[in-house]
Amino acid sequence: MRKIAFLRSVRIQRADPYIQRAVRALAADGIESGLFHTSGTAGDEDFPGHRQRLDRGVTPRELADAVAGWGADAAVSISLPCENALRDATAKAFLEEAGIPTVMSPLTATMLLVDKWETKQLCRRAGLDVPDGFRIDSDLLTGRGLAVPGYRDALRVQAGRIGYPLMSKPVWESTSVGIRTLHSPADLDAHLDRDAHLDPDAHLDPGPRQTPAVVSTVVEQVVEGDLCSVDIVGRPGSYQVLPLCWTGRAGAEPVFTFADLRWCGPHEEADAAFTGVARTLVRLCESLGVQGSVNVDMIYTGGRFVVLEINPRIGGATTLSCAASDTNTFTSLARMALGLPPAGGPARRTGWAIEFLARDGLPPAVRTELARRVRLVTAHDLVIDGVSQGDIVVITLPEGEEDRTVKALTELHEATGFPATEVMGKIGALLSPNP
Ligand SMILES: Nc1ncnc2c1ncn2[C@@H]1O[C@H](COP(=O)(O)OP(=O)(O)O)[C@@H](O)[C@H]1O
Ligand SMILES: [Mg+2]
Repeated sequence: MRKIAFLRSVRIQRADPYIQRAVRALAADGIESGLFHTSGTAGDEDFPGHRQRLDRGVTPRELADAVAGWGADAAVSISLPCENALRDATAKAFLEEAGIPTVMSPLTATMLLVDKWETKQLCRRAGLDVPDGFRIDSDLLTGRGLAVPGYRDALRVQAGRIGYPLMSKPVWESTSVGIRTLHSPADLDAHLDRDAHLDPDAHLDPGPRQTPAVVSTVVEQVVEGDLCSVDIVGRPGSYQVLPLCWTGRAGAEPVFTFADLRWCGPHEEADAAFTGVARTLVRLCESLGVQGSVNVDMIYTGGRFVVLEINPRIGGATTLSCAASDTNTFTSLARMALGLPPAGGPARRTGWAIEFLARDGLPPAVRTELARRVRLVTAHDLVIDGVSQGDIVVITLPEGEEDRTVKALTELHEATGFPATEVMGKIGALLSPNP
């Protein structure tokens, strides 16, 4: 084994510093890494290996051909979100035909998990809690193909049975795109008649529409509680469950993913309640033949975990779970590509990891000061859909160092204004709730 290809859709900087560590460790063993990416730019400091930028619209076949053309012995998908997981799972089929084993879930499993409705059924059957809901099929709604005159009323009755507020989510979207809260039957009606803005084909038909163009959605009960997410990495026979990451509050009003602190740390009651859920999730991964990583989004409420979705790919909080457990998901995936057994069982949490957004950026001098005072894992520009959101910062600390860390950050805040007052308040509340 000499060459491993990493397939990537979003900017590689979001994998800092774990991807570089994984690539350097492979190089030390005489293995070359190649990055085949379709977004952003990458320098040697971002990915110290072969780099090939491909067009954003690359087909799975073209992607597989580029990887095979480089002479890869194995490949690993580290793409997100879901449409790119599907692209890579399809490329995997082509790569494996060409004799290049690819660490990624099989296409069949990926196609089920990118679909929120299918995922809900899988979870329910596995014995996991899911929000009660129903599916709105866009073809039936718009009468494309088959006319079902009772369809709207059927949906209204279903909604009434569950009760408002409800949340509507496109079955295939990611990162909260297209999610709407329906507060009343009138909202549902407006939703059933909604405009074309979510239609991927809208640009093909600039003329007036005869029927509302929509995408299929899941409509489900709104659950209030603490949002959390967990990564599971491995392959049938051996899965590693990473520590739970807490990512904000869930309720009727949608919240920007990075609005709150995202953190991984002690939460005894939830960790205990999660043990059984983790076992069930692993069994589900096993039965689907998951290979590589899945990222499960959940809401913790009243002592139980309600599963929102299982993303068939690395998650948005991968850095956080690695930082809190001294593991490296990219190294685990590379080990699997090398045919080595992935680590099994739960990855023990080794301390706290906290992630927050510095909306006004992080000037180099302040970054240096920050790194002097606390353990800085990464600070890099967060780009979502081509728009910079500020710098995303991840720090870690051992348990027992909470007060010292709050003090160090408060001094930095007083001297430089960073972290912002609001962030400082949240960090203080998390680490020193009773100062
Ligand atoms: N049933 C629900 N109740 C409350 N909030 C929800 C519910 N479903 C989704 N959300 C909110 O929307 C966000 C995105 O939902 P999710 O199902 O993870 O889809 P995706 O991440 O693919 O957009 C969640 O993180 C949560 O804030
Ligand atoms: Mg999600």
